[in-house]
Amino acid sequence: MKNKHILVGVTGSIAAFKACTLVSALTKKGYDVRVILTHHAAAFITPLSLAAVSHNDVYIDEFDGTNEAMIPHIALAKWADLFIVAPADANVLAKAACGIADDLLTSCILASTCPMAAAPAMNVHMYENIATQTNLNTLKERGWKIIEPESGLLACADTGKGRLAEPEHIVDFIEKILSEQEENALSLAGKTVLVSAGPTQEALDPVRFLSNHSSGKQGFAIAAAAAKAGAKVLLAAGPVSLPTPEGVERIDYVSARDLEKIMIENAPKADFIIMAAAVADYRFETTADQKIKKSGDSMTLTLVRNPDILAGLGKTKRDDQILCGFAMETENLDENARAKLIAKNCDLLIANNLRTEGAGFQGDTNIVTLLKPEGSEHLPLMSKEDLGRVILNTMLEMQKGKTDHASVH
Ligand code: PMT
Repeated sequence: MKNKHILVGVTGSIAAFKACTLVSALTKKGYDVRVILTHHAAAFITPLSLAAVSHNDVYIDEFDGTNEAMIPHIALAKWADLFIVAPADANVLAKAACGIADDLLTSCILASTCPMAAAPAMNVHMYENIATQTNLNTLKERGWKIIEPESGLLACADTGKGRLAEPEHIVDFIEKILSEQEENALSLAGKTVLVSAGPTQEALDPVRFLSNHSSGKQGFAIAAAAAKAGAKVLLAAGPVSLPTPEGVERIDYVSARDLEKIMIENAPKADFIIMAAAVADYRFETTADQKIKKSGDSMTLTLVRNPDILAGLGKTKRDDQILCGFAMETENLDENARAKLIAKNCDLLIANNLRTEGAGFQGDTNIVTLLKPEGSEHLPLMSKEDLGRVILNTMLEMQKGKTDHASVH
């Protein structure tokens, strides 16, 4: 925990001087702390003081930093495990809520994907203003953690809520967020995840094929999430143009029968198997060696059934393995998906509806229903990688449940 990176944004408030105590306390606890000051904050506190207590450079402008190739707002956003704005004035809260990025601090806020927090400090009337309260609520809805200001006599001589929380309370608040983060972190160390992604192509001749609109994004996002969580990941990738996620072993396929071979060969090594690929149920009865020439006004092509790969995996899965299928539906989502869950002997099935905006093929988001034998859960719109984490977490819980059950009997 102590080697965590904490980024502290300091805005222009009389309470900015308390940032020194905060940064010093965090550094003494062993955290690696970096500070971004706004120009207004630099009128209250010097960068030198904060550099001295953080033992790091302090950033004010977009082009600060010792490394000239570094783009500070991106590099700092990537570096941070937690980003707290303390003190956060009304202005920065409003900009963060609106996505305005007109200086280093707000650009860095917009570029950050780590947990975000703020310790507001301002005049009581500014704090109670409906605009500030609305902005705070917006940020909370997006997952920001807010440590409430304290009440008392304010620097402006008004009395009320608006005084920055004491630095030691902010330190406790930060440590609570970090330990919650640690508890919730998905760890798949020692697990092997086999995931399929993308469409299949069933050749008619060397020029034409039967396929679908899958881009591979959903399966690739699951593979990326699994690799980030420390799993060994085998990705059966269809004919798509996506780069291989870091730390993932990719095995390319074209047709459903190619994919079947890969899945059968690798399934015994896997703890978790996820079929996110959009597999053609049928292929052409014959594939011509040469391009088929046109003749006559119509043409009849015969299709034959492809193997049902997921159902095959459902028949051979071991008790300790968790099998997850997907279902792409255009009507009666819950009913059709539940029938697939049972027929294919899956532990988990992820149903998405092609007709729902933000769900299914090609986009970066999905909206799904997660079906288990004992019930189902509708999930809100989320990125395909966030969904990957939810699926993997669910599979991990299911596997733990099976192991606990087995050890009781
Ligand atoms: O790739 P993206 O553009 O990101 O889009 C993601 C997605 C929409 C492709 C993905 O979210 C998804 O829904 N994948 C499954 C699509 C599908 O084939 O659904 P299905 O209802 O036809 O099949 C049910 C399950 O059986 C699937 O897990 C499928 O992989 C599997 N199947 C289907 C047919 C077959 N012959 N063999 C199979 O294993």
